[in-house]
Amino acid sequence: MIEYNRNYVGDSDILVKKFIKNGIKFDLILTDPPYNLNKDFGNNSDCLSLDEFLKICKKRIKMYKEILNDYGSLVWFGIHKYIGYIQVIMYETGLYYRTMNIWYYENGFSRNKTSPLGQYEPFLTFSKSNKKWTYNVDDVRIPYKSTERLKTPVYYRNKNGEKCEWVPNPKGAMRGDVWEYPTLSGKAFAKEKTSHPTQKPEALITELIKAYCPKNADGKYEGTILDPFHGSGTLGVCCEKLNKQGHKIKWIGIELEKKWSDICEDRIKQVRGE
Ligand SMILES: C[S@@+](CC[C@H](N)C(=O)[O-])C[C@H]1O[C@@H](n2cnc3c(N)ncnc32)[C@H](O)[C@@H]1O
Repeated sequence: MIEYNRNYVGDSDILVKKFIKNGIKFDLILTDPPYNLNKDFGNNSDCLSLDEFLKICKKRIKMYKEILNDYGSLVWFGIHKYIGYIQVIMYETGLYYRTMNIWYYENGFSRNKTSPLGQYEPFLTFSKSNKKWTYNVDDVRIPYKSTERLKTPVYYRNKNGEKCEWVPNPKGAMRGDVWEYPTLSGKAFAKEKTSHPTQKPEALITELIKAYCPKNADGKYEGTILDPFHGSGTLGVCCEKLNKQGHKIKWIGIELEKKWSDICEDRIKQVRGE
């Protein structure tokens, strides 16, 4: 029997095998796995040889395909250096490409002066089916950049060749594939930032949930979401905050290290007011 809306401390490779054995499936796997950049998570998961890294990514992506619901999606954060390999593995595993997005930030930091400062991290979305998947386009619209073009009417031809006047969508412009959110560095984010070395911003993860989580007939997010590399628990925190607004997300996070799981638990308790 699996419990939702909680973090599990342990090796997700082992737990995911159990999910496969017991037929437990998810609508969305939204994860930020080790990038293999020698970060110190308290284990060697980020310090593998390229061969070992690719082997383990391949094994995981195959397992994740098995635990995705028929119309489910996998969102996977990666890094410039290796994202090409991961994308190929996803194609080879039989998942279907939806998009490669860029998480863009201007407040990056680097001591390295021999190459340009990193200002983005890519993330991939692949779906299990090539026919049907979730993308809640209206939930992630953004404000129009300029009102200049609204001053004079803009016309276009519809699919029947008829001339129509373009009117802006009251919900905003469609999101592009470059998503701008600052990293959690500096004083501005001191309240949100924990000691986890690669904590993701809640604003970014919440927006991803809004984009890819299925909704029920009442327009509430109602789906199952897994993060097998939960770190400080950002995915759980964002789901809990949405659930407080009346959504019905069932989430599971898995984190190898007790140290990060403890931080996750504190964050979740805080959201729940416990
Ligand atoms: C990039 S971090 C995730 C950070 C997270 N998104 C956050 O906002 O805090 C990856 C995490 O995966 C954990 N990890 C590595 N191997 C794991 C495994 N086999 N099972 C579960 N967690 C693992 C690491 O300890 C690390 O905390």
